[in-house]
Amino acid sequence: MLLGPLAVHPDFAKRGAGRGLVRAALAAARDQGHTLVLLVGDEPYYGPLGFRRVDPTRVTLPGPVNPLRVMLAELVPGASLTAYGMAKNWTWG
Ligand SMILES: CC(C)(COP(=O)(O)OP(=O)(O)OC[C@H]1O[C@@H](n2cnc3c(N)ncnc32)[C@H](O)[C@@H]1OP(=O)(O)O)[C@@H](O)C(=O)NCCC(=O)NCCS
Repeated sequence: MLLGPLAVHPDFAKRGAGRGLVRAALAAARDQGHTLVLLVGDEPYYGPLGFRRVDPTRVTLPGPVNPLRVMLAELVPGASLTAYGMAKNWTWG
């Protein structure tokens, strides 16, 4: 699953809504049987939520993207081991 874009209205910023949305999205994806969630974002924000940077030589996205901002969260341990190549071509269970 691809997560994003994520946005919280400034009137509600810094109250945990963004983190809550990410956690709810991960739980929903897990409940639906997905194994991996990919996003393009900032490691300081998404790292504590379970996302890790991917090796840019291993995973690519269509279109211009900063490879240092491509991150994956495993919903099943080891799921990222099978993730490689152009992400749009992946078929995930
Ligand atoms: C990023 C965003 C969704 C966070 O929403 P939020 O509800 O304010 O976030 P939370 O309340 O869960 O977390 C707030 C904390 O995250 C930090 N944070 C926000 N954006 C961050 C970023 N890009 N990198 C690192 N930390 C970030 C805040 O400084 C704050 O830190 P604090 O708790 O130490 O004060 C919101 O700022 C937003 O809509 N930004 C514009 C759109 C955007 O950049 N989306 C992300 C695209 S990947």
